[in-house]
Amino acid sequence: MEPLREVPQRVSENSPNLINNMDEYQDMYDTALANLDTFWLNETRQRITWKSPPTIGIEGSFLEVPEAPLKWFSDGKLNVTESCLDSNLENRGDKTAIIWEGDEPDDCREITYSELHDEVCKAANALKALNVGKGDRVIIYMGMVPEAAIAMLACARIGAVHSVVFGGFSAESLRDRVLDCHSKVIITQDEGLRGSRKIPLKQVCDEALEGEHPVEKVLVYRRTGGDVDWDDSRDVWWQEFVGEQSAVCPATICDAEDPLFILYTSGSTGKPKGLVHTCGGYITYTSYTHQTVFDLREDDVYACVADVGWITGHSYIVYGPLANGATSLMFESIPTYPDAGRYWDMVARHGITIFYTAPTAIRALAAQGDDFVKQHDRSSLRVLGTVGEPINPDAWNWYYDVVGEGRCNIVDTWWQTETGGICITPIASVTPTIGGSATLPMPGIVPLLNDSDGNELTGPSEGLLCIKHPWPGQARTVWGDHPRFVDTYFGMFPGLYFTGDGCRRDERGYYWITGRVDDVINVSGHRMGTAEFEAVLVSHDAVAEAGVVGFPHPIKGSGVYSYIVLQSGAEWNDNFSVELNLLCRKQIGAHAKIDLFQHVPGLPKTRSGKVMRRILRKVAEGEPDALGDISTLADPSVVEAIKEGAQAL
Ligand code: WTA
Repeated sequence: MEPLREVPQRVSENSPNLINNMDEYQDMYDTALANLDTFWLNETRQRITWKSPPTIGIEGSFLEVPEAPLKWFSDGKLNVTESCLDSNLENRGDKTAIIWEGDEPDDCREITYSELHDEVCKAANALKALNVGKGDRVIIYMGMVPEAAIAMLACARIGAVHSVVFGGFSAESLRDRVLDCHSKVIITQDEGLRGSRKIPLKQVCDEALEGEHPVEKVLVYRRTGGDVDWDDSRDVWWQEFVGEQSAVCPATICDAEDPLFILYTSGSTGKPKGLVHTCGGYITYTSYTHQTVFDLREDDVYACVADVGWITGHSYIVYGPLANGATSLMFESIPTYPDAGRYWDMVARHGITIFYTAPTAIRALAAQGDDFVKQHDRSSLRVLGTVGEPINPDAWNWYYDVVGEGRCNIVDTWWQTETGGICITPIASVTPTIGGSATLPMPGIVPLLNDSDGNELTGPSEGLLCIKHPWPGQARTVWGDHPRFVDTYFGMFPGLYFTGDGCRRDERGYYWITGRVDDVINVSGHRMGTAEFEAVLVSHDAVAEAGVVGFPHPIKGSGVYSYIVLQSGAEWNDNFSVELNLLCRKQIGAHAKIDLFQHVPGLPKTRSGKVMRRILRKVAEGEPDALGDISTLADPSVVEAIKEGAQAL
């Protein structure tokens, strides 16, 4: 077995963690498992502000999900913003809630808890004045400005359901989401700013709203002052409209199981699914995991450099940290602007103690050399986190040795949009770590490895990662399509939550996530469905069929590999790749880029016409001789052509 890296000791005991050593971890794990209801009821009552505290833990089971979504704390009533804002006013009113670092390093803002409370109330009143009420959906299509967090919390304040759409998505993707959740209002900004590049958010919004749609108002935050088209009957400036509202807005009381937000994510089909997270369970789980995993202390400066458009931004920039009264940093720019030392410059200037990012950023920065890191004082750092994809031991070691100077804890946190919060992870300053392993489950989480026939594997083994028991933070359903939720997560192994990830368990019982086993690829920490790409490619006149798979990429984790079959009569030329990538950009978004195009005479299909994706994957992974049994192929000669073509790429 690989040796473990020693865990540096805690340097201050000013705010002891809930878990301070491996014995305490094991105790808490056992206590949770002995009675999940009691465990989570205790946690939620202690950490969450309830108007009427719950007496019921879980209702339903994984076996019953097909009949009805699971429920947690169903007799409790609350508004999550009371935990995130009001509960912090008395003791932390003047504490900084959000540090905002803009695109330019000298463009910073600090917002205290009492200021944040007032801003959220004003924005909530503005939404009410725009006719948004409890249960209405609001799409937030913004860059990383504090107003994005304020907009999320303002929705939550009045019981409206937000759906944040990542600012890189195209007009078509935005439109799909607007139509799917039937949003009444969109909150956006004139332009976004990333690495001095302007992103025309309002313009994309205007394009998305061409044709019929349910949107009544568009609230626009002025970020750059750039020119935008304006529709007087529909568009409203944030600064003017929100600015004139009252800073008093009583929180709307919600049921624990009322939806808090919808977040769209990619799956195995071309249509993204809107996962629904609900109030009581989600806020309990994000608060609990944020505090324990990162060993959060009162004076920490916590920075998660994800985007609020993804689940990491929801759970670990906004909801978890604010529910814990933490100081949470929001970063508008990119890690290489103005140079590859930006993160570490930021660490030095703000005294960041906990830093959370994705392996892709770590690999990209490591490739730029150590000098960009060493120029900046990182002595404030104590905990370093990663999320979004497997981290390779080289990148882990670089993060540990160079960035963390061998004295910081690394927490490699495994979780998903669906899980709401971190599920498998080291506990900072407690769990002995080793590069590449997400180590052990959180209390309340019971991982299980199955083979593809549904047999549970025991001891050291490699299989399909499932979770055995419900936990409060998990998504309850897919918006408007519960059968899809059931099929996707509970169809494979009835009674178990299937994650879509492959995983190995070692002799120590540590978990090593090996990556997706379905048709989802994690590209630079962005989760995308191969079917989404395929749908775009075949929309091109000259393309008859397309097969898209992931392949190992040294920086991005996975790259995107496409096999293209042309219509008869069409001729392949190099312009196609440019044209097809433009199409992906237009139909999906700026982050959807195909790395490799291979023109093939046909896709490998079974006699019943099913594409054998395993073959496409193996060739893309550079293992053309490990195709396994191909005797069921309708036309084996296609495989030879694919192999030859791949070699020539
Ligand atoms: C992958 C991101 C290995 C995994 C929070 C999962 C990881 C998918 C890790 C979810 C990790 C996330 N190690 N793989 N620490 N964290 N993943 O929904 O494949 O954007 O299923 O949520 O990212 O991506 P999502």
